[in-house]
Amino acid sequence: MAGVTDVIFRQICKELGADVMVTEFVSAEGIMQADERTRKYTEFTDEQRPVGVQLFGADGERMGEAAKKIIDWKRPDFIDINFGCPVNKVVARNGGSSLLKDCPVLAAVASGVAKAVGEQVPVTAKMRIGWDENSVNAVEVARILEDCGMQAIAVHGRTRAQGYGGEADWEVIDAVARAVKVPVIGNGDITCGADVVKRRATAVSGVMIGRAAMQNPWVFREAKHFLETGEILADVMIEERWELVLRHCRLAVESRRNGTEKQTLTAMRSRLMAYCKGFPGAKELRQKLCQVASVAEVEALAEYSIGQGILAEF
Ligand SMILES: Cc1cc2nc3c(=O)[nH]c(=O)nc-3n(C[C@H](O)[C@H](O)[C@H](O)COP(=O)(O)O)c2cc1C
Repeated sequence: MAGVTDVIFRQICKELGADVMVTEFVSAEGIMQADERTRKYTEFTDEQRPVGVQLFGADGERMGEAAKKIIDWKRPDFIDINFGCPVNKVVARNGGSSLLKDCPVLAAVASGVAKAVGEQVPVTAKMRIGWDENSVNAVEVARILEDCGMQAIAVHGRTRAQGYGGEADWEVIDAVARAVKVPVIGNGDITCGADVVKRRATAVSGVMIGRAAMQNPWVFREAKHFLETGEILADVMIEERWELVLRHCRLAVESRRNGTEKQTLTAMRSRLMAYCKGFPGAKELRQKLCQVASVAEVEALAEYSIGQGILAEF
């Protein structure tokens, strides 16, 4: 997830049970220019494996070259292609979900990457179910992707027009999973183990969790425990939540990935707000978090929040 699943957040998710993770998406052109920022997006550690690097772009040949380059640099466990991004900047350059409207180009991108990568690593794809409600074509697109050599397909059950609103359509995800032989990973609105169990009743081979992890990275631990035992783990206490928030801040500052401490904390504000959704006094906390500029300030907020002595209800 762009702006979210950086190397530090992935480390946290891995520790909490995430099985397979993907980098923030990167443009094929960024890879070709090997710019510093793009390198940063594709960073991962061996402990985080299996990790995929996600590429977007609209030119199969350039995408293929970029995929080869990234394999030389990083040896990721797989290359993933983004056919789901709804953001105007990406769509305007014919990347992401815009390719759902142009199956020949989508096929050229998928096969361009698959051919360039060959047997080195698997190539996978992530897609939405269509451009809008009048053009839901996920089954057709998935068949094309399979024919082009994609070895797994993740399907976010929304159209591009939906953005992140409304509900993910798991009937379409199920239809896709039944239509192709490669594993299909269902994605959309999973927030707990019970959701995973519910969605397992479809034909998917796995599920993908997005936004829920931003607020609650413990979701992986909770979901796995629920799958193994049928028991729901006790809510994570506010102390443990703050401990993780602070650890994330410290790791980010230590890494100097975003410059000074002030720059790092400024860049992290939206992440901190996501973590604190649902905390007691969340409204006031949010107002303060959108001004923090040092770890010490976050520590003070944590102390204040914990000191209120109220257990969060999630
Ligand atoms: C901030 C943000 C950034 C995202 N960036 C990406 C991305 O780079 N690549 C991608 O395939 N999906 C991206 N997504 C979409 C998610 O991976 C996921 O498909 C979507 O949020 C639906 O799943 P969820 O209901 O579990 O959140 C992003 C979503 C959000 C909210």
